[in-house]
Amino acid sequence: MALKKERIQKEGDLVDERLRHIAFIMDGNGRWAQKRGMPRSYGHSVGAETFRRVAEYCRKIGIRYMTVYAFSTENWKRPPEEVQTIMDILTDYISKCADEIEKENIHVRFIGNLTVFPQDLQDKMERIDRETAHNPFCLNIAFNYGGREELVHACTALIREGKTDFTEADISERLYTANCPDPDLVVRTGGDMRISNFLLWQSAYAEYYFTDVLWPDFSEREVDAAVAEFYSRRRRFGGV
Ligand code: FPP
Repeated sequence: MALKKERIQKEGDLVDERLRHIAFIMDGNGRWAQKRGMPRSYGHSVGAETFRRVAEYCRKIGIRYMTVYAFSTENWKRPPEEVQTIMDILTDYISKCADEIEKENIHVRFIGNLTVFPQDLQDKMERIDRETAHNPFCLNIAFNYGGREELVHACTALIREGKTDFTEADISERLYTANCPDPDLVVRTGGDMRISNFLLWQSAYAEYYFTDVLWPDFSEREVDAAVAEFYSRRRRFGGV
């Protein structure tokens, strides 16, 4: 599937209903920086630029939902200065988003256990989500997110509601991604082939695409390659 820039600008619909939701595990920032003799934190800053470019491109080609793994429940184990850098990048992005809400055509949503963050940051994230909810392109930013924690959170909610008997839909509706279709395609950069506690429930039937490209080098052309690979696969959802 060749993706041409002119067509994208004209139509914005190079993907169809089969590919509504792409999720990204943005791996390889640290190695990218170290290869250049720079601190790992620098890789995260460049990775944040890549995130913006990839989000804009996915919106342009007609993707309706995009999810990125920005900070996992396990990432707290990293050296404090690296955790601080990622927090600074994310809080800066949140502040900028809060100031520029009207300018963007994006519904920005934060998914994860956000209760650990200062109240003013939680308020900003909640306001951004609410005030951009009318926009057609939904961007989920997984922030202090872990798939297992999310499932415990959903089951706890059901128990608190007094439900003793529940369905798959009941669980889906209580995940942080409620109202968002399951990812069709999960892309992991950086060469490792694992899911690292990302969208465990939601990815039951996702197609996976792994690439050795390190996240800061991930380009529009790499998105095209992942999309082309997705369309070459036959999804059977357990059928024949
Ligand atoms: C994994 O690479 C990357 C992270 C844990 C952080 C990703 C965060 C960003 C790219 C910032 C996103 C910004 C916004 C605004 C959403 P790694 O450090 O594990 O790489 P390595 O495997 O080379 O060590």
